[in-house]
Amino acid sequence: MIRVLFVCLGNICRSPMAQFVLQDLAKRRCMAEAFQVDSAATSREEIGNPVHPGTIRELARRGIPAGEHYARQMTREDYQKYDWLIGMEESNLRNMRRITGGDPEGKIRRLLDFSDRPRDIADPWFTGNFVRTYEDIREGCEALLGSLCPERL
Ligand code: 4NP
Repeated sequence: MIRVLFVCLGNICRSPMAQFVLQDLAKRRCMAEAFQVDSAATSREEIGNPVHPGTIRELARRGIPAGEHYARQMTREDYQKYDWLIGMEESNLRNMRRITGGDPEGKIRRLLDFSDRPRDIADPWFTGNFVRTYEDIREGCEALLGSLCPERL
């Protein structure tokens, strides 16, 4: 079992999108049971709130099921519970390390560092561009899967 926690600032736009995209990709490759995926926020802003309609809409357009999810803030305990804690942008990683008190096992990564073009994923809460968010997240999740289980692609 590979345990993955996606993390962004609010846990209503990017990290739940990444959670549902990875679950869908794993399912299509008959690897759903191999993964435990969740998402969380670094901030307290949106705690308890549902997934943003922009994220739901982009997933629906592509036939990707969005499960129910309510924003929660990541905790120090998450560091032991997950094999990978994957942030969307550099500022997420700083906040994640602050919450965990460091990253001695090298589990905290940026999603698009798994891709050929390492970069941040912009926050659609500010840009309004959920299409771009989806494209970046899809690229990152495919690269992540390829890097975690190359023999099963
Ligand atoms: P996310 O977007 O980090 O992709 O979920 C945001 C959603 C809400 C806020 C910030 C970012 N907020 O400050 O409320």
